[in-house]
Amino acid sequence: MTTLAGLNLALSYENAAVDRLEKRLSESIDPEVKEKLNRHLTLTREQQERLKERIRALGGEPIAELGRLPMPEPPQSLKAMIESGSTPNEREVWESLNDLIIEKAEAIMYEGGIQALELLKADKKAIKALEKNLKEEKGFGDWLQKNNPRIAKRLMKKQLEEKKKKEKAEEAAVTATTT
Ligand SMILES: [Fe+2]
Repeated sequence: MTTLAGLNLALSYENAAVDRLEKRLSESIDPEVKEKLNRHLTLTREQQERLKERIRALGGEPIAELGRLPMPEPPQSLKAMIESGSTPNEREVWESLNDLIIEKAEAIMYEGGIQALELLKADKKAIKALEKNLKEEKGFGDWLQKNNPRIAKRLMKKQLEEKKKKEKAEEAAVTATTT
């Protein structure tokens, strides 16, 4: 594989990452998660530019296509059940796991790419660009790994509290009509 192909491959994954982050940002219900996703979206757009710059410097054309990011895909029957049977809070926890998987996978792909370019004695600036991107992917991946459990706990606690409140309100309504 040439350096140009490798850079374009990385760019195709970042193109997909921007799509995914925009979708997550529009659907997320947690302010803290939203803020982090937004920050990483900004960084991802910078990563795209960093890669495009290197691709052009090597005489190539930056790819506009989207690669496919790794995300576990449940079987159709379970997927429908999970989607219709979960609350927004549960969905948030579910998607934050996918966020983590994607960021870790991105970091692994950059690590492999850097190693390949080093072995090929490729352009130093191209390697530097990949290293900068790797650092950012690692940063967000590590943050998610560390903080996802705490955020999940908060979301589930909130859900339980809301359920209890609803039950109490219903009880009160029943008592009011029967006394
Ligand atoms: Fe990323």
